Amino acid sequence: MENEVAIVTGGASGIGLAIAKELMQSNIQLVVADINQDSMDKLSSEYDLYDGQKVDVTNETDVKNFVDYVVNKYGKIDRSFHVAGATKSDLIIDQSLEDWEFTIKLVLNGVFLFTKYVGQQMKEQNHGTMVNISSINANIPMFYGAAYSSAKASVIMLTKNAALELSDYHINVNAILPGLVATPLTKKMTANKVVDDKFKEKITAKRAAEPEEIAKPAVFLSSSDASYINGSSLIVDGGWQVTAYPDLRELRAQK
Ligand SMILES: NC(=O)c1ccc[n+]([C@@H]2O[C@H](COP(=O)([O-])OP(=O)(O)OC[C@H]3O[C@@H](n4cnc5c(N)ncnc54)[C@H](O)[C@@H]3O)[C@@H](O)[C@H]2O)c1
Repeated sequence: MENEVAIVTGGASGIGLAIAKELMQSNIQLVVADINQDSMDKLSSEYDLYDGQKVDVTNETDVKNFVDYVVNKYGKIDRSFHVAGATKSDLIIDQSLEDWEFTIKLVLNGVFLFTKYVGQQMKEQNHGTMVNISSINANIPMFYGAAYSSAKASVIMLTKNAALELSDYHINVNAILPGLVATPLTKKMTANKVVDDKFKEKITAKRAAEPEEIAKPAVFLSSSDASYINGSSLIVDGGWQVTAYPDLRELRAQK
């Protein structure tokens, strides 16, 4: 992994930061694209391999300039992780178009813009890997989450389209669908005991994931160990998806 260069969007916090740390442990040069300048400044001073650049992933000029910066400074992009995300949530009948568009732009357009400009560079190099962070909400709807869930589901299809279109250039594109992860994004929900207990009922692991538990599979998907995996979506949810069906053992016990 020596001399490799990786991009991580949203690498100033949570899952993106955990991916960044995982990559730096393998001596990979990291270039982070995030809007949180203060956090990136702090991390840059802590880690030699951490180069944080202020980028709004929804802004096409920002993304293009960032990719140019990475290539001019480091010469190539071996791996690109598209992690930045957030949501403005509401019930569909109450949601403003502005908040809907905020979420779609950040979650979906951000991944599209990075796939486009990083893809151009990886095509030129004739190699590379991309990992998109979707969500279990791509499969499971949630109250107040129509925009987020719709955008995350679209990220899975964008991943498949990118895998198809870029495969000629030895570029693999995959997605991860995390379940509940303990990050600043979910703090409000997990800090509420009633909601947190309800989550734990559904999650066979009975806890939220630590960001590192998403970072390790993400880094695996970007590595040569995953060379035969392309266009896939890996669910990393502590068993959440398997609990949708009622517990039929109760029925059997009634006999
Ligand atoms: N935490 C969870 O339970 C969970 C579950 C499934 C999926 N996800 C997804 O994982 C990703 C990371 O989430 P997290 O929990 O680590 O959140 P987080 O809030 O800890 O980190 C998100 C990062 O994205 C950055 N960001 C936000 N808007 C940006 C923009 N316009 N341009 C550039 N950077 C921007 C933030 O500054 C922050 O550093 C998101 O896409 C999120 O939807 C999270």
